[in-house]
Order: sequence, then structure tokens, then C-alpha cells
Amino acid sequence: MRIALDGPSGAGKSTVAKAVAKRLGIIYVDTGALYRSIGLYVLRAGVAKDDREKIIPMLSDIKLDLSFKDDTQSVILNGEDVSSLIRTGEIAMYASAVSAIPEVRAFLLETQRKIARENSVIMDGRDIGTVIIPDAEVKIFMIASAEARAERRYKELIAKGEECTLEGVLADIKKRDNDDSTRAVAPAIPAEDAIFLDNSDINQEQTVERVLEIINEKTRN
Ligand code: DC
Repeated sequence: MRIALDGPSGAGKSTVAKAVAKRLGIIYVDTGALYRSIGLYVLRAGVAKDDREKIIPMLSDIKLDLSFKDDTQSVILNGEDVSSLIRTGEIAMYASAVSAIPEVRAFLLETQRKIARENSVIMDGRDIGTVIIPDAEVKIFMIASAEARAERRYKELIAKGEECTLEGVLADIKKRDNDDSTRAVAPAIPAEDAIFLDNSDINQEQTVERVLEIINEKTRN
């Protein structure tokens, strides 16, 4: 069983996918972590996030692995577990920038496809239903208004002790939405056969139930 869960940043895909994976006994794959790890590598190298000339040759120095243990994914960048380091607003902007580089997407393609070939997965990303697993049994495109997403993200960041303002978070989300959906390669657009799920006005538990319903309906026959 392969479930593609795509949608813009902050729609709550990861929390929902984690819960769904647990209920179904399948693996949750967070593909954004791969782009974030490349973003981290570029940041550490002191290279500008849009400097393609410098970033593309750097890919040959990068080895990325995902490992799964006790319902948790770890991302290993050249032997170092960077799973927590990549969860900052700064790295999100680097990830968004490097994800627009076709060579970066090509570099990460096989890693993602291999996991989907060898496991039952719910994979969260932007192009899972369109590029990574176009023949997935279930494709869901999860959305929420930019305001609803900004409010949730703001609360998370404050809880983690990051300094930010609601206006700043909303502006970042709108910029990332725009960049991710208008880029030339694999833009974050729904697959033709994806089912839309707007969770602006429903809570996490209700979203999980709705996703499980969709999976049930799709896989009944
Ligand atoms: O889901 P996330 O916020 O961790 O993703 C970080 C960035 O990576 C996001 O701005 C777009 C990019 N991304 C992508 O282009 N394709 C994916 N499958 C996953 C993430």
C-alpha cells in the first residue's frame, strides 16, 4: 500500500501522516527532511541558497540515508544524524530554495522511490503523487488556509522557544507557497486523481479520521 500525501507547508501533513501510519502499521516517510538536509549542508558550507553553480557540484559530496525505528524517521547526512538540526525556519527557507533545483530533485528521486518500492508507506511531500509514486493507491492533497497554517506553525515555534512573530511566519508561509507552487520543476500541485482535503476548520483527530476514510474508500475494491 502506498499513500501519497502532498500539500503546502504547514498543512499538518506530518502529524496526520504519523498518526495514520501508526493506525495502519505502515511507515511514515517525511520527504521534506531530505531537502532540508541538503539545505543544512549548503548553509554550513556558507553557500547562498540560490547559488546553483556552487550547489550542483556539492551534491556529489552528499550521502543521505533515511532510517526508521519505533515509528520515527531519522535522516543521516554523511554519517551524522541531523533529524533535529533541520527543523528550523532558516533551514525551511534553504530547503525550499534548493528544492527548486532540478539536479537536487533528481539526486533525491531514487532514495524516495526505493523506500516506496520496498515498504508500505504514507509519504508526505509536494510531488509524491505526481512524480515519486504516480501509481500510488491513494493520493491526497491536503490544504489549509495560509492564516490557519501560520497560526499553527507560530504556536509550534513559540513552544520550541524560537523567536518569531505571527506576521513573519505568515509572510514566510506565503513566500514558500508561492515559490513551491510556481517553480519550474515538480511544482507542488495536486495530481489529477488526488483527493482534496481542506483542514482549515477541522482539528487533527478529525483530519486523521477523514484520511482513514479516504484510504478505506479507495482501497475497498
Ligand atoms: O515539508 P517541509 O516543510 O519539510 O519541506 C521543506 C521544503 O522542501 C519545502 O519548502 C518544499 C521542499 N519539498 C519539496 O520540494 N518536495 C518534497 N517532496 C518535500 C519537500
